[in-house]
Amino acid sequence: MANFRRFRPEDLNKLSKCNLDPFTETYDLGFYLQYYAKWPSLFQVAEDQHGNIIGYIMGKLESSPDVYRFSEHYLPWHAHITAVTVAPEARRLGIGRLLTEQLEMAADANDAWFVDLFVRVSNHKAIAFYKSMGYSVYRVVKDYYGEHSSDPTLSSEDAYDMRKPMKRDVKRQHVRDDGEKHEVNPSDVW
Ligand SMILES: CC(C)(COP(=O)(O)OP(=O)(O)OC[C@H]1O[C@@H](n2cnc3c(N)ncnc32)[C@H](O)[C@@H]1OP(=O)(O)O)[C@@H](O)C(=O)NCCC(=O)NCCS
Repeated sequence: MANFRRFRPEDLNKLSKCNLDPFTETYDLGFYLQYYAKWPSLFQVAEDQHGNIIGYIMGKLESSPDVYRFSEHYLPWHAHITAVTVAPEARRLGIGRLLTEQLEMAADANDAWFVDLFVRVSNHKAIAFYKSMGYSVYRVVKDYYGEHSSDPTLSSEDAYDMRKPMKRDVKRQHVRDDGEKHEVNPSDVW
């Protein structure tokens, strides 16, 4: 049985069950607190009966800076999943799905066009997870994890930028069927 609630700052020293996983990016402490301060409803944890954090999702709401408004890479108002992770012993129990559904509800409540995220192209399990939830590849960001990896021991790698349209995108304007064919450079991603 997992209990779902908002992240609290004292959870910071309880993230290691999740963060020891090599596909889970680990950030400076201030990075987590920034999400807590700015988008508290998009930072949710799952805890077990002993109070251990066995999963969390951390997200934000944003659009690209105005200076890029006329760029083909401009991103309109959307929610972004910065991290979602479930401790290995608690996987395939629906915890990741519930955390992600909570964030999608918040995205809809905030009138976001879509939810997006970046995932290593070799992270087949996470890609299967996202696809099962209705996400599809929007574009491939070449060598994204060369610049953006929080873990220098992990190899440089391309990212799939995956998206799921939210209720606002009735015409599915912000998703693609052939996203794997659209390659961009990290400098096109803000
Ligand atoms: C990806 C991750 C968050 C999924 O969490 P989870 O709680 O195990 O996922 P769920 O139990 O909610 O799975 C929902 C569905 O996703 C799919 N799925 C999940 N894990 C899968 C796997 N290992 N292989 C294939 N499909 C999988 C299945 O369709 C599953 O439904 P089912 O169990 O009824 O078949 C978890 O594996 C994880 O923490 N991975 C390491 C961190 C990571 O890669 N995060 C993403 C970085 S972008």
